[in-house]
Amino acid sequence: MKALLLAGGLGTRLRPLTENMPKPMALVGNRPWLEHLILHYKQQGIDSFVIAVKHYRQIIESYFGDGSKLGVSIDYAVEKDLLGTAGAIKNAEPLLGDRFIVVNADIIHHIDLKSAIRFHDDHDGMVTICLTKVEDPSSYGVVEMGEADRIRSFVEKPKAGEAPSNWVNAGIYIMDRAVLGYIPSGRAVSIEKETFPLLIRNGSGVYGHRMNGYWMDMGTTERYRQLHWDVLDRRFPLPIDGKELDDKGIWLGDNAKIGQGVLLVPPVMIGNNVTIGDRSIIGPYSVVGNGCRIGGGVRMANTILWDRCKIRSGAQLNKCIFGSGTHAGPHILHEAVCNRALEVQRP
Ligand code: GTP
Repeated sequence: MKALLLAGGLGTRLRPLTENMPKPMALVGNRPWLEHLILHYKQQGIDSFVIAVKHYRQIIESYFGDGSKLGVSIDYAVEKDLLGTAGAIKNAEPLLGDRFIVVNADIIHHIDLKSAIRFHDDHDGMVTICLTKVEDPSSYGVVEMGEADRIRSFVEKPKAGEAPSNWVNAGIYIMDRAVLGYIPSGRAVSIEKETFPLLIRNGSGVYGHRMNGYWMDMGTTERYRQLHWDVLDRRFPLPIDGKELDDKGIWLGDNAKIGQGVLLVPPVMIGNNVTIGDRSIIGPYSVVGNGCRIGGGVRMANTILWDRCKIRSGAQLNKCIFGSGTHAGPHILHEAVCNRALEVQRP
């Protein structure tokens, strides 16, 4: 079975990180999430992928190519204009088989695919929508369940106390090809707002499969940060590159140059080829990307640096997220989210 990964959206809520790159390429534990996603599905027997691309598609295409480096095959369905979550599926029609998996590629999750596919087979519907349980459903598409796992309706972003359940659309579907007949071509179509409600009205068999693995929509900076705390706390068991020192929650990549008197406060993850100057205090809850250069006397907590960031001596960073290649001067920054060279000069 093929998996179609939807990765073409603009990622507006995660700007500025997504200003010049697709959201699913955001680094999680120093690798693009999309790579983790493909490897997680490959581990469960999926070796053929279609990626639906648009926004900065060349970044995805040049990173993954035909997929052979990851031991999978990858085709690309390219949109000229954004076609929305259902339009993107329709656009990929020539590349899809009789039954396929569709995944919103910005959803961080682990799934037991075998059990989801078995559920789809057992229910004989046109679509299985994977569901996840959340504490606060007010920013999601909440399902109202009918009998025998049938989905009766969706309530988009319900007000507090008005949600019919805590089960929400997880953004992962198993579909029969017949669904494509319900999606008009040549215009933007939303799967959540148009296609699923249409299928439900027609009684086409839309079922909800309750998943229980880790799930997080990384669409906002708050959730993107939380995701890292979950990785570092091992609530989300994502493979972490680098060696863990004495099971202490300090992961160190290759060729790190750590200065004198540096304190690494767990949980903290340091990538490959990182330099940290004398007497810096890094962590807790921090990730330093590959090739970052951090000066001396830097204090950094709850902060995520992507690759090749340069932090000047004396900087103090708390709850910051810096995209690849960001430069920060010797300043005190709190909750700064930056992308690319942001060298702030001392007056
Ligand atoms: P926001 O602008 O912040 O809402 O982000 P988004 O539109 O990129 O993501 P959203 O959560 O709305 O979409 C879920 C997934 O579908 C993401 O992985 C998007 O990349 C993808 N997606 C959304 N719209 C499109 C589209 O028109 N075409 C393609 N190919 N993918 C899309």
